[in-house]
Amino acid sequence: MSNKSPDIITEGSVEYRLGTLEGDQMVYDFDRILVYLEAKGKLMFGGSFEIYEADRDILFKLCNYFIKDQVNCKKMGIDIQKGILLSGPVGCGKTSLMRLLKYIVPNQRPYVMVPSRNIVFGFNHVGYKTIEDYGMTQFFCFDDLGVEPIGRHYGKDCNVMGEIMLSRYDLFLNHRIKTHATTNLNAQELEERYGNRVRSRMRELFNLIAFDKKSMDKRS
Ligand SMILES: Nc1ncnc2c1ncn2[C@@H]1O[C@H](COP(=O)(O)OP(=O)(O)O)[C@@H](O)[C@H]1O
Ligand SMILES: [Mg+2]
Repeated sequence: MSNKSPDIITEGSVEYRLGTLEGDQMVYDFDRILVYLEAKGKLMFGGSFEIYEADRDILFKLCNYFIKDQVNCKKMGIDIQKGILLSGPVGCGKTSLMRLLKYIVPNQRPYVMVPSRNIVFGFNHVGYKTIEDYGMTQFFCFDDLGVEPIGRHYGKDCNVMGEIMLSRYDLFLNHRIKTHATTNLNAQELEERYGNRVRSRMRELFNLIAFDKKSMDKRS
């Protein structure tokens, strides 16, 4: 996608202004970002997509993170260098939001969304090469982390996503490579799934942004 100016995003024949340029400094307007996200969401997921008032806090955090608003992120304890771990109950809209949010920053390096279970299926076919493949400098968002099956290649079990998380942590430390993920597990469940060592790396790798446990299931 090409963009003449970071304050304007064009979808079809419609232009969305996410804020104003002051010199070369982009001053974003959160409400305008939400207008754009709803429009883009409808294009991507269908006309029933809407921005819910109840999700405003989550969206405020995610948007400030993606637009790299240092002041707001600092206030909310979000580290712009780290990735995002978006957690919440099934159907609350995690996958949709992570697919959508990258479009507000078309000039930033994009991340590729990959279902965690597909990575394990890949591992079951080709083995450890799969783990190497995700140790590359590409930015990823691992979708539905924690509910993928245990990998098994030639009779050997492997906690595939746990291994990949360790590689991603090294990439983050050494090269500032970002990793995002979505999950419906809580911190304790993630620790049970991946063990204490991986869990502590994950704390370094991610900012945790969590939907409320009672968040509405948006599956119609
Ligand atoms: N803001 C929204 N408005 C309307 N439908 C939504 C919204 N967010 C998600 N959905 C729909 O709800 C379902 C679940 O969303 P999804 O992003 O897969 O949730 P999760 O990843 O948290 O399980 C999908 O069919 C999706 O299209
Ligand atoms: Mg999902």
